[in-house]
Amino acid sequence: MTADTIDLTPYSGVEADAAWRDEVRELARRRDAVLLAHNYQLPEIQDIADHTGDSLALSRIAASSSASTIIFCGVHFMAETAKILSPEKTVLIPDERAGCSLADSITGAELRAWKAEHPGAVVVSYVNTTAEVKAETDICCTSSNAVDVVASIPADREVLFLPDQFLGAHVKRETGRENMHIWAGECHVHAGINGPELAERAAANPEADLFIHPECGCATSALYLAGEGIVAPERVKILSTGDMVTQARATKAKSVLVATEIGMIHQLRKAAPDVEFAAVNDRASCRYMKMITPAALLRSLRENRDEVHVDPETAARARGAVQRMIEIGQPGGGE
Ligand code: 13P
Ligand code: SF4
Repeated sequence: MTADTIDLTPYSGVEADAAWRDEVRELARRRDAVLLAHNYQLPEIQDIADHTGDSLALSRIAASSSASTIIFCGVHFMAETAKILSPEKTVLIPDERAGCSLADSITGAELRAWKAEHPGAVVVSYVNTTAEVKAETDICCTSSNAVDVVASIPADREVLFLPDQFLGAHVKRETGRENMHIWAGECHVHAGINGPELAERAAANPEADLFIHPECGCATSALYLAGEGIVAPERVKILSTGDMVTQARATKAKSVLVATEIGMIHQLRKAAPDVEFAAVNDRASCRYMKMITPAALLRSLRENRDEVHVDPETAARARGAVQRMIEIGQPGGGE
């Protein structure tokens, strides 16, 4: 079943009005729950959450929160990561069908076979992976600390980086590392934000900054445009979603072209209301992220579902890699 064929009817038809907000907040209070929302969530979900941020910031909050329940408004691997870090807490995701095409691009068996071809290599997995893949991993990373994670590995050790090829190319460029092998996975949403589209938008907006997520198919093109002098190099910024919020507050530009999932624009406008933000590709919407509807969130709080479970043995094997991830690099800008 793909995201396009999933029936969302049971989770629609609820207005995100004042009554909905009051009930969500009251149920969360009674449940001793903290509401976490990723930057790609629907605006009404971002606005009701206790914390909105990128994958790294939310993982850190999940690990340090004193709440006994975490309601993770994001996709399944994010909720699973919270459960790995806090096995004693109840972790709920409002719709467990919210998967991730990137996490689906490598299985535990495929990683085991890859490791067998490179004995002794250090395995670095993006957080967008299943618990089974994390259990085969030495260090996890997110887009905000991937460069720091790879830079922390002794230069003479081979690195297997997975599963995102565009983030991998960015890390390889930034670290100058030659002994790094990259899995050929991609996110269908970010891969669809392509170079020609970016070049066209940048040419039409010569004064705009470019905020580009490293998972995008256009990240290499952006650096090429900068290298060729078509776009001023200082205007091209390759950023995680949390770092985009930080950069939005700091920019002197009047307009910014944003290459990532379109949910991001909501946080950017809140962070810098005087700056004009426009999506490079306004069709870049992640259907999985958008499964977390107001109705699904209410159902989650009323019915205590969908509870996220990770097999304790898998979680124990994955925990060290995830803990290293939250220790390395600077916070990526939750709120
Ligand atoms: P970050 O929030 O870490 O930048 O990740 C983006 C993403 O694609 C999550 O699925
Ligand atoms: Fe996965 Fe891509 Fe959706 Fe992020 S935007 S959750 S990487 S499918």
